[in-house]
Order: sequence, then structure tokens, then C-alpha cells
Amino acid sequence: MNNLDEGVEFLPAMNSKKMEKRGPRRPVVITVLIIVFLLVSLTTGLLFWHFKYRNIPVQKVFNGHLRVLNWEFLDAYENSSSPEFSMLARKVKSTVEEIYKNHADIGPYHKETVITAFSEGSVIAYYWSEFLVPKYREESLNRAIADKQSLVQRWNPRLRNPMLKVESVIAFPVDPSIAHSARDNSCMFSLHAKEGEVTSFTTPGFPNSPYPNNALCYWALRADASSTISLTFKTLELEPCRDDSDYIKVYDSLSPVEPHALVRLCGNYAPSYNLTFLSSQNVMLVTLVTNKEGRFPGFKAEFFQLPKLKACGETLKGDSGTFTTPYYPAHYPPDMDCVWNIEVPSIKNVKVRFNMFFVLEPGIPVSSCTKDYVQINGTRYCGERSQFVVASTTNKIELRFHSDQSYTDTGFSAEFLSYDSSDRELKPWGWGGESDFPEMWSCPSSVFTLPCKLGSSLFQGHSSMPCFTENLLVFLLCSAVSRHRKLCRRDVEGTPRGLMCGFVPFSLSACPGKFTCNTGRCIDRSMRCDGWLDCVDGSDERSCTCTEQQFKCQNGWCKPRFWVCDNVNDCGDNSDELQCTGQTTVPCKEYTYKCRSGHCISKQNPECDGEQDCEDHSDEDNCNCGLRSYVRKSRIVGGQNSDVGEWPWQVSLHVKGQGHICGASLVSASWLVSAAHCFLPLQGIRYSDPSLWTAYLGLTDQGDRSGPNVQTRKIKRIISHPFFNDYTYDYDIAVLELQSPVTFTAVVQPICLPDATHNFPVGKDLWVTGWGATAEGGTGAAILQKAEIRLINQTVCNQLLTDQLTPRMMCVGILTGGVDACQGDSGGPLVSVEPSSRMFLAGVVSWGDGCAQRNKPGVYSRLTSLRDWIQEHTGL
Ligand SMILES: *[C@@H]1O[C@H](CO)[C@@H](O)[C@H](O)[C@H]1NC(C)=O
Ligand SMILES: *[C@@H]1O[C@H](CO)[C@@H](O)[C@H](O)[C@H]1NC(C)=O
Ligand SMILES: *[C@@H]1O[C@H](CO)[C@@H](O)[C@H](O)[C@H]1NC(C)=O
Ligand SMILES: *[C@@H]1O[C@H](CO)[C@@H](O)[C@H](O)[C@H]1NC(C)=O
Repeated sequence: MNNLDEGVEFLPAMNSKKMEKRGPRRPVVITVLIIVFLLVSLTTGLLFWHFKYRNIPVQKVFNGHLRVLNWEFLDAYENSSSPEFSMLARKVKSTVEEIYKNHADIGPYHKETVITAFSEGSVIAYYWSEFLVPKYREESLNRAIADKQSLVQRWNPRLRNPMLKVESVIAFPVDPSIAHSARDNSCMFSLHAKEGEVTSFTTPGFPNSPYPNNALCYWALRADASSTISLTFKTLELEPCRDDSDYIKVYDSLSPVEPHALVRLCGNYAPSYNLTFLSSQNVMLVTLVTNKEGRFPGFKAEFFQLPKLKACGETLKGDSGTFTTPYYPAHYPPDMDCVWNIEVPSIKNVKVRFNMFFVLEPGIPVSSCTKDYVQINGTRYCGERSQFVVASTTNKIELRFHSDQSYTDTGFSAEFLSYDSSDRELKPWGWGGESDFPEMWSCPSSVFTLPCKLGSSLFQGHSSMPCFTENLLVFLLCSAVSRHRKLCRRDVEGTPRGLMCGFVPFSLSACPGKFTCNTGRCIDRSMRCDGWLDCVDGSDERSCTCTEQQFKCQNGWCKPRFWVCDNVNDCGDNSDELQCTGQTTVPCKEYTYKCRSGHCISKQNPECDGEQDCEDHSDEDNCNCGLRSYVRKSRIVGGQNSDVGEWPWQVSLHVKGQGHICGASLVSASWLVSAAHCFLPLQGIRYSDPSLWTAYLGLTDQGDRSGPNVQTRKIKRIISHPFFNDYTYDYDIAVLELQSPVTFTAVVQPICLPDATHNFPVGKDLWVTGWGATAEGGTGAAILQKAEIRLINQTVCNQLLTDQLTPRMMCVGILTGGVDACQGDSGGPLVSVEPSSRMFLAGVVSWGDGCAQRNKPGVYSRLTSLRDWIQEHTGL
């Protein structure tokens, strides 16, 4: 205020016109004028600041609820137009206003409170309150509102006999986008579940017209007291997820407050993803918030009431058994605690295997597990995990499951097993010991004479997964041995499953004088923090202090500094390649990416990686490919069955009267890529005749070829590579033109074609898919199968295959079991998932080793070396 006074005092000096005329004093006058001007500006500025930023009030809206203890719930309270509702609402409103009035940090700023709903218990009232508060008082208002204890305590004692006895006055700030239209009730619905019936509701206009833009819709769902609600979205298609895209939120409350949010949904979901949600009480709120653009169908949902769970968890006895989170595979209810006490016969030990594990809360690091978690013997588990095992050193185990008030997930499906404690002894290489996988595979012991490190150097200079190579090495050696003995690979029964097979000895005891991996394996201390993964789970490379010469990866591993920005993902999480800016133009070489402008850049695999690397942006052109439409990963339980829409570029090629013969990949609306050998004449049939063939797209189940999402096309042209050699299978590639283009949908999408310079590094994860059938009625699967496999060093593979590989071929090994090796069909896709999560066609299923049958893959046509030929014939 001082400044203001000063400013006022100086005003009389404005009388300066008189002075102006006195010649000699002119400079003084000008100086005074300038000073006055400056002071006036300063004053105006301060006043402006004062009113604009200190005093101009901001609008704040809080959503909340409170409990009225001395009041009985009436059915009429569910109808907000009933006189009973209005009467109680008036009382609650004046109580809330009274509470606010008594608080200096709240009272002066309160503008309005509206009671929106009631539910049982005794009566819970839901409301929102609006405030106009100067910016500088905002924090104290937030604090006062958040402090539910003091709010009521300050108030209740003053009135000896308050009409309403209230407690738990809780409110939370509302997202401004929702607060904006908190008063509009044109899209508000209130539904009560009917005993033994399912109630449905949809977005406005569903299914005939899209939901409106700029909408805010509420569905308040209720059930009878002491029941809970099961809500399922039967169909759901919203705007694809972005930060500001349309979304649905489901709350375990009648008030849309974040601490009770169960899920946020956007985009669309694979049919296998379970969209069922459970409440903890007899109310639930569904909200839809839409932005100003985009038109999408919306949803149809159903709900019904269930008796409230009495207890969760149980005591389990016996040799083995299974158990799951409540309502699995629906999303488990919020706010619950379950305990399972598991006991096996006393001479045995017990372990629990989680076959499915989805306990993920958005924004919660898996390392902390502070919200929802499973706890066993003091250790918490949360997040999304692949199959894992927790073992006890006794015959008992206690497992706790906790879900907090917000965000739920699918939960887990687990089994417990007993095992002999003597199984845990370490074998020299860990082979043949207790495995976490039922189908244990043991090779003849004479084969295993190569130490792990030698195995890894055989495969790649600095592979980030030596243990994988260990595994693979064993596999390959067995394969080679079988070949030598003229045995089929198939004769080796039950190959190991997954990464953790065989060589992970099962031990819970510490390793004397050695380092113990989290998996229990013992390794030499010198292997800890040496930049190599020696434990399958990487635990030997975690929490390392990196030396001067080392770079610390985001996942905590230490890698030599000179590996940073070398275009190889050494960290495993690519963090060593992230900060490498400044893509410079380099001289063009055989393996440098060439932009359309003719310039070459040093970055490896720049196509469609989401960054513009070429000056002309040609590396990011034509990138409408290689992505799945569904938001979440498939959650198909067990096996290698694919989900609908999981591989939208997969094509099934049928021949009239013979059914499915070969696979192919969709690379544009009109072109497929397949294998040339599919079109070789056989038994008098000219398979090169396009009129014999029909392509099925969007197909998952061969039995469902007339399904609504399946597109069928005849073939116009088949172009096989002119150099295709039907003896060596060199140049085993063909392109097929469809008679008419397909329509891209959620289940029909093209795969990206890699540039000829694209590098698929040795050891990279690849996926092969196919029905594995050679003829209708053969042994193929009805459901599209998938298998994860890894690229093998060409030199090593060529030795194993006695020099049968040409540069147009690539060799891929198996991790997930011998049987899978024979899956996939000729012509089908081998795809790689790039760091941008886009998928590229790496190969085409060509021929198999070992079993000497064409359709047993193992060797693939190498897309990059055939890329120019594809371009020449398809223009792609
Ligand atoms: C809600 O109450 C009003 C006023 O009593 C009544 O006209 C209306 O039918 C009621 N609505 C329902 C759904 O019961
Ligand atoms: C989701 O889970 C519920 C409850 O277990 C089950 O009834 C429903 O069939 C499941 N839906 C899907 C698509 O798996
Ligand atoms: C629980 O953990 C402790 C040490 O973390 C271990 O000594 C004990 O054997 C474990 N108990 C069971 C039942 O696994
Ligand atoms: C493949 O292995 C050979 C011999 O072990 C090695 O010289 C070569 O560098 C490896 N190639 C790749 C791409 O890792």
C-alpha cells in the first residue's frame, strides 16, 4: 500500500506546464516528468498485479460425500425429483453450509453447494461445492477441505442437538473439464438393479448414431443395500486413446472423485479383454467425457446385483489346487483384503505358481506396490507379470491380497503344488533339477559340456541375453545331434518352455561364497555387475554402482560407455540409444538408410519409428502399418492361441476343395506377400493359377470363415520370384495381388515392410504365426497359433544346417517348446516388434530343418534381401 500512497503524493507535480516555460530549468522539468511517469507506471503495474493475480478469484469445484448418522434411508431418496429428496437435500445443504461458515479458510469463498444423490449407510449424501477464491487463498482452501476431521469437529460441538449428525465430510477437487458443466443434467441417468435381472444402458444414440461431442454423461447405478454391482461393457468403441481423447471412467461411489475411480477406458478392446467391474458397495457411477471432435459409436453396458462377498480367501489343503482373485477374470472389487492359507502334507514343501498375474495400478511403480498387491512372506508383488513361482521352505505358505479404493485389474489365477525338498539340490549346470515348468526336457548329458560364456560368445559379441543363448545353444546342439542320428526334432519330447527352463536350478538357500540370483541360481561373484546378464532375471546386474568407464542404463545395468549411441540396444531397455540426437547425413553405404532425397543417415532402422530423421521426412511416410487396433495386450488364458485382432495382417490362403494351404501377410490394401513354394505344381495341380485361390483376412478361427469381420478376396495375380529354386528354396518369395482392395478394420491391418537396410539383430524376439495346417482335416489348429522365437546368427546356423543357407534365408530358433517349431505355415509372417511398438515383416515361413518337411519352419525368407524385388513388382 506504501507504493500507492507515494504515487498519490506525487500527482500534484503534474502541474508542470507552468514550469516548462522557464527556459533554464527545462532539463529539471524533463527529469521530474520522467520520474513521475515511471512512478505512475509502477503504481498501475502494481495495482494491475494486485487485482489480476492476488484478488481476482478462481473458480474451484469439489466433489464429495458425507455420512448422516441419525437418518434412515428411504427408497424415495433415489429419485431426485421426489419431495423426500428435496427435504433431506435442503437439510444436508444447510448443514454443509453451516460447516463451511464456521471455517475461516472456507466460509468467505463458498458460492454454492448442490446435493446430487443419496445412498444407504445410514444415509450417504453426495454433493459438489463451488468456491470463488483469490489465488493466494487457494492452497489454504484446499487444505481445509481435505481435512475431514477438523471440519466436523469444529462444527458439531457448537450445536448441542444438531438436526443432522454428520461425519466423514470428504471432498476432492474436480478436474476443471468436468467442473465446467457440473450443473448440466441433460445427460444424467439413475438406474437401480432389479432382483435377478440384468439392466442395460448405452451411450446416447447407440447403436444407430455416435455419441455427442462436448458431452458429460453420468449413469448412477444402484443395487439393494448389502449387495454389490457387477458391471460389464458388452461393446465399447471410443476415440483412440490420447491425453485429451474421449473417455469413460467408472467410480466406486456416486461421486466422480479420483480416489474412488476404478478404471479409465478409451479406444477399443480385444474381445478377450475382460471388461467386467465389481463395486465394493451398492453404488457405482459411470461417466462419459467427450471432447469437441471425433464421432464414435460408444458403448452398451449391463449390470446386475450380487450378494456382498462375506469373506475373501480360504484355507487350502492337499497336494495341489487352484485359486484366483474374487470374480476372476473380471476386475477384482476395490477395497478388499483376502488371505489364503495353503498347507501341503508335512513331508513336502509348497510353492505357488501364478499363471496369470495382472495387479497393475496406473502410475504406481512395480518396485513399490503401495496400492494393490499380493504379499507372500513379507515380499509384495504387483504389476503385470508373466508366469512366476514363489516357493516356501516349509509345507505352509500364506498369501495375502490387498486392493485399495481405486483402480482394479484382472487379478491372478494361481495354483499351488507340493514338491520334495531334496529336489532343490544344485546340479553342476542345473540341468535336470527341479524346474518350474511341467514339461521338463533333458538332453543326453554328454551334450552339455560347453560352459555358458562360451555359449554366449558363439552367438553374439555382447548379447544382452547370454542365458537365452545358453538355452538356445542346448537346443541347437540337440537338434544337431538328432540330425546326426537322423532323428526328427519332434522325437525330442517336451522341450523346455520359456526362458526359465532347465538351467535355472531351484534353490532358496543362499549360495556360500557366491552371488545368489533372485531365481536362486548361484553364480560366481565376479559375474555380478560385469555388464553381462548371468541370472536369467537380470538380478546380477541390478543395483550396481557403475564405474567411470560405464554408462548407467535406466534399468540400472552398467554398460561400457563406448556402447552408448552405437545403434545397438545394449541396455535391453534401449536407454543407451535414447539421447543420441543430431542425425547427420553420412556417405551412403550398403547398410545406411537412404532418404528419398538421396541423402543417407546414420541412424539404424529409422523407418516409421515416430521420429523424423530425413530432412524430407520420407522415413515417416507410409507408416499406416504394423499396429494393432486394440488397446490392451491379449489376455487369452494359456496356450499359444492368438486373440482376435492380434495379428491383423495374417492371411489364410485357401484352395478350392483343399482348404487352408498357405499363409500370407497383408502389406497394403491390394498386396500380399507369401512364399513362392506355395505355388509350385504338385500332384498334377497348377497351384500357380490365381483362380484356384481365395484369401481370408481378419480370420482367427478357421471354423469361423463366414464371421462378420472376415473379408474374402479372390487373387488377381501371383508373381513368384524368377530365381526361386525348388531344390534349395533360395528366393522363396511371391507377391499376390488381390482382385479388389480390402478395407482396413480393427482386425485387418497391413504389416510394415522393412527397408532393405533394416537390421534385425541376432537374438531379437520375433513372432511367427499360422494355423500350422497343410490341408483341411490335417493336424493343423483351428485357432491361429503364435510362437515367440529368436533370430540365430547366420554363421552358426549355417554350420548346423550343413551349409544350406543362402543370403536370402534366415534362421530362427525356439524358446517356447519343440512343438511350436512346427507351427506357422509356409508363406506366413515372421514379424518383429520394434522399439516404437510398430511391427515389421522380417521373414516369410519357408522351410524346416530336422524333420525335412517343407512346412515345418526354422528357415525363413529374409525380407530385407528381397525387399527391392517386392518394391519392383508392387510399387510399395
Ligand atoms: C420421482 O418423483 C416425482 C415426484 O414425486 C414423480 O413424479 C416421479 O414419477 C418419480 N420418478 C420415479 C422414477 O419414480
Ligand atoms: C469376464 O469375467 C466374468 C466374471 O468372471 C465372466 O462372467 C465373463 O464371461 C468374462 N468375460 C470375458 C469376455 O472373458
Ligand atoms: C520367509 O522369508 C525368510 C527370510 O526372508 C526366510 O528365512 C523364511 O524361510 C521364509 N519363510 C517361508 C515360509 O518361506
Ligand atoms: C556370428 O558368429 C560368428 C562366429 O561365431 C561371428 O564372427 C559373427 O560376428 C556373428 N555375427 C553376428 C551378426 O553376430
